[in-house]
Amino acid sequence: MKHFLTLTDLTPAELTSIINRAIEMKAELATGTARESMKNKVLGMIFEKSSTRTRVSFEAGTAQLGGYAIFLSPNDTQLGRGESVEDTAKVLSRMVDIVMIRTFSHSMIETFAANSKVPVINALTDDYHPCQLLADMQTYQEHRGSIQGKTVAWVGDGNNMCQSFINAAAQWDFELKIACPEGYDPRQDLLQSHQDRVQILRDPIAAVTGSDLVVTDTWASMGQDEEKAERQRVFGPLQVNEELMTYANKDALFMHCLPAYRGMEVSETLLDSEFSVVWDEAENRLHAQKALMEFLLAQ
Ligand code: CP
Ligand code: NVA
Repeated sequence: MKHFLTLTDLTPAELTSIINRAIEMKAELATGTARESMKNKVLGMIFEKSSTRTRVSFEAGTAQLGGYAIFLSPNDTQLGRGESVEDTAKVLSRMVDIVMIRTFSHSMIETFAANSKVPVINALTDDYHPCQLLADMQTYQEHRGSIQGKTVAWVGDGNNMCQSFINAAAQWDFELKIACPEGYDPRQDLLQSHQDRVQILRDPIAAVTGSDLVVTDTWASMGQDEEKAERQRVFGPLQVNEELMTYANKDALFMHCLPAYRGMEVSETLLDSEFSVVWDEAENRLHAQKALMEFLLAQ
């Protein structure tokens, strides 16, 4: 049995086969030729943070594969009243076939997985968002082919998305240039273990110059609402806009995991510009996670 807590839980070959299967499943959905590979399977979905894309893509994807998804929030489960993560994992994993969790601390999903008899998927923690990277890598491949050897610029906070991009750089073999303000760097241990391909550059123009893909994310992630005003002040010069995109390579793409805050980390109009693939990126959450669940259930 395998879990998917970070991108490093799978090999590059396994990740590639999931992306290829996601592309195939997207075509199968469009032509009405999909297999019911989750027939009689149940997905448990634990959400301790808000979500639009993740919830709908997992829930709709499970239904499309003939399975059933159960939405579990701490407000309505005993998890919110102090039942331990260990005990919850032991009980739930006797009842469902696969679990996805969106929570704060990454150690919570590690503890859950260590006590689970079924595969556990990280649907975002404070540290990583690997499902989003599956969709992002699928989207790049669909628009531009292989990302191997390309250069990606991350402009913004060294957050969970940035840290998953660091793992992705290793797994898909690309260069990553990060423009983030001092004090908002990704984890040092991650940077150190990937220093051969990941560089911190404070200047957004320096990071974007020569890039094939430019990516940003909100300046204040879930759980950082009180820091919003301070973060807007610090991150102000890092907005990704049409002007900044002119420094990237000619056929560069723009990605954002969404939700986006127009006029903050991204200009009012970039999401709808010819650079942007954000709507495909959001849709691909559906296909990529279906391929992921099919893969994990087959182990
Ligand atoms: N990108 C993403 O995970 O979106 P949600 O927070 O809406 O699930
Ligand atoms: N970094 C953001 C991503 C949201 C999908 C957050 O954690 O809130």
